[in-house]
Amino acid sequence: MRTASCVELTLLMLLEWRLRHGYQQKKSMIQSLMLGKVSKVFLGQWISEPEMEKEMNDRYPGCMAGRTMFVIPFSMGPIGGPISKIGVQLTDSNYVLLCMKIMTRVSPHLWETLGDNDFVKCVHSVGCPRPVKRKVMNHWPCNPERIMIAHRPEQREIMSYGSGYGGNSLLGKKCFALRIASVIARDEGWLAEHMLIMGLQNEKTGEEKFICAAFPSACGKTNLAMLEPSIPGYKVRVVGDDIAWLKFDREGTLRAINPEAGFFGVAPGTNFKTNPNAMKTFQKNSIFTNVAETADGGFFWEGMEDEVDKNMAITTWLNQKWHIGAPGKAAHPNSRFTAPASQCPIIHPDWEKPEGVPISAIIFGGRRPTGVPLVFETFSWEHGVMVGACVKSEATAAAEFKGKVIMHDPMAMRPFMGYNFGNYLQHWLNLNAKPHKVPKIFHVNWFRVDSEGSFLWPGFGDNIRVLDWVLRRCAGEQGIAEKSAIGYIPTKESFNLTNIDLKWDELFSLPKPYWLDDIRESRRFLEDQVGTDVPKTIWKEIEDQEKRIQAM
Ligand code: GTP
Ligand code: MN
Ligand code: MN
Repeated sequence: MRTASCVELTLLMLLEWRLRHGYQQKKSMIQSLMLGKVSKVFLGQWISEPEMEKEMNDRYPGCMAGRTMFVIPFSMGPIGGPISKIGVQLTDSNYVLLCMKIMTRVSPHLWETLGDNDFVKCVHSVGCPRPVKRKVMNHWPCNPERIMIAHRPEQREIMSYGSGYGGNSLLGKKCFALRIASVIARDEGWLAEHMLIMGLQNEKTGEEKFICAAFPSACGKTNLAMLEPSIPGYKVRVVGDDIAWLKFDREGTLRAINPEAGFFGVAPGTNFKTNPNAMKTFQKNSIFTNVAETADGGFFWEGMEDEVDKNMAITTWLNQKWHIGAPGKAAHPNSRFTAPASQCPIIHPDWEKPEGVPISAIIFGGRRPTGVPLVFETFSWEHGVMVGACVKSEATAAAEFKGKVIMHDPMAMRPFMGYNFGNYLQHWLNLNAKPHKVPKIFHVNWFRVDSEGSFLWPGFGDNIRVLDWVLRRCAGEQGIAEKSAIGYIPTKESFNLTNIDLKWDELFSLPKPYWLDDIRESRRFLEDQVGTDVPKTIWKEIEDQEKRIQAM
């Protein structure tokens, strides 16, 4: 299975690709975009310096002619914090400037904080110099045929051409906070991950625990981070909804910061029932991209049908007249809201704490319609890293495919990996060393379906029940888990099932043929895509898992 998701709109297909050798000196990394095409590559593509030079010279000279160039000094993480990093972005897009002010900390004082120190150099152009020769649609200048999102990880440089899409143009986000930061993190001994960070406070004892969760794009991070619990007992607060920078402190506690200052969230499906906290966050000072507009100047997207007047005149994201019930979509499926995190009603009071919050558990997950239970706990850090490396998820299929496909998205980082994936796994494994107290690692799946295709798990606010079990395991509670071939599974008696009707056995069943197939397919994937760079420890974990499944 080698397909590209258009969900993040960052992957693509250009030039030479070398995953097996991964990052090599004097190579740059390219993430570019060709909408509607399926990528033949998986974990990033690499190009030599001379070839890169040629591609740049073909694009950049004169690319901002006639436009205003903005210089944006920004900090990822609280300004001056020990884990924070500074970047400077040039851009010829006013949209990008406004969004950067929401998503990062932009301040003239940054120049003083920066002094003579190094910073991440970010250049962005929509690739549409004036006088404009191409037709500009809906005031959205871009140059889709020539998009090239390039990174020089060793030089800490990002060059982005031709695209105004968030992931490609708000360079602090995926380009810096994940691709470049993962390389800095490798060099400095920490982690930059595609993870939410949330706090769960026990309302009885007042004790609070923080967790991180890594799910692929459009698999529920923003929703989980802002969850409204369906059962009493926990106060939930969000620290971050997309990216976490994790570092062990001197005592060996893993701490996480959210390097961002805003939420860039999927709009469709967001409403006052599914995610009221997100709705409340973007009522002011927010920017909406590729959504529809109501006649009275409000925003609209699929999922908001019950929240606007049925007869409201609506203009779609493509500037066409539309009304609720009419054919076609009002908003693009990946349309987004951009809102200041500080406006979220459940933002954690410590969300800007420079040293971060202590992490008790890491959770991986994806969209797995069959085979994969609601939750399991891995046996060890090493087993957990293997489980993370084998994360898969159902993608909305690209145009060439009929139906849906399950794609690998290792560590939920497939489009965001800044260096060789084998080395990345080894880096994770190396972190389990004194004095580090590594957190427990879990895997969840909100998306298992029954034979009729209906979700077996209600999800959203009920996900608190899973987190409750996770936290109890972290607290060392015994007798609430049973060992299985793939990890510890909750016992039905121990799980909070108040006011909920469940097909428990179906939700937790582990079909042997499915899991045998799964582990063999994962092995093939790693052999194919990472080859000799896969750490021995990961092969050992895969062998052991296969033996346990054989013995089922
Ligand atoms: P990125 O911002 O792209 O990284 O994605 P994300 O991980 O933040 O995903 P998001 O929270 O925006 O959720 C994406 C989709 O998953 C939305 O359509 C949600 O309605 C759906 N979703 C989220 N949580 C659940 C859940 O618990 N159950 C089900 N069935 N769907 C969910
Ligand atoms: Mn994301
Ligand atoms: Mn999100």
